[in-house]
Amino acid sequence: MAALGTWAFSMPAVQKIRSLVEIGEHATDCVEEAMADIENDRETGQYIVGRGGYPNSAGLVQCDAALMEGAAGRFGAVAALHGVGTPLRVARRVMDRSDHSLLVGDGGVAFACEQGFTVEDNDSMLTPQATAAYQEFLEKKKHIKGHDTLGLIVLDLQGNITVGVSTSGAPFKSPGRVGDSPLPGCGLYADNTVGAAAATGDGDKIMCHCPSFHAVQLMKQGLTPAAACQTVLCDIVRRIGTEKMFEMGLMAMNMKGEVGAASSVEFPYTFWTQGMETVDKCVQLPIS
Ligand code: GLY
Repeated sequence: MAALGTWAFSMPAVQKIRSLVEIGEHATDCVEEAMADIENDRETGQYIVGRGGYPNSAGLVQCDAALMEGAAGRFGAVAALHGVGTPLRVARRVMDRSDHSLLVGDGGVAFACEQGFTVEDNDSMLTPQATAAYQEFLEKKKHIKGHDTLGLIVLDLQGNITVGVSTSGAPFKSPGRVGDSPLPGCGLYADNTVGAAAATGDGDKIMCHCPSFHAVQLMKQGLTPAAACQTVLCDIVRRIGTEKMFEMGLMAMNMKGEVGAASSVEFPYTFWTQGMETVDKCVQLPIS
């Protein structure tokens, strides 16, 4: 049993996952429940996730979310989804109850309606803080830096591994912009013979490198999660050059519950593995 989450604000999610896996819940249910708490919370929206996240340049909060199980072919995602406070729950319905893998924009919203989700108006997705930041963006073209995707990886008691990611994406992005998060191999990847990985950071750049797929393939060749993540980051730097390296954090877990990360920026992540008294936080320093 093990759980891993991106950034320090994943701490309550990893704590919740711990309590759920210890009573035998499936990894996918753990990811969905823990993610929903953060997505739906207005305060943690400031970390660019779900309700309370920053809107796009037209003022609309559009979210991306995805879920991948370790069993082959088990993937579901939504992108540029508006009006739903728990986008990862919709992504799970795409995986479980549709013929598709990824639904975007109004198509995703229509699917969410069919599945019984309440589609709220945009005002209920916004917070005063996000609205004020948007006004500043309109008036002064003041941008907000950051792409704080919440990524969660869970290995359950039965040995199932699931990875989920959720984000409201780049603040004030172009309407319809989709980042790395809902794209398999980019924002997330899982293989139950090996482990799973998730990325966070500048999704427009991350998606060019399929880092989550790459990290899992390196673990398949025998690398530890930390070495796999480090190798992926170094490979990207080697290809594009240090000066063009963008903001990216990558974390991974293998089927033994070992975890690791690498990053181009200071990257806190939280984790718990069987036998640990409490959920711990580790700060990954930028690659040099
Ligand atoms: N990594 C999240 C995004 O750029 O949308």
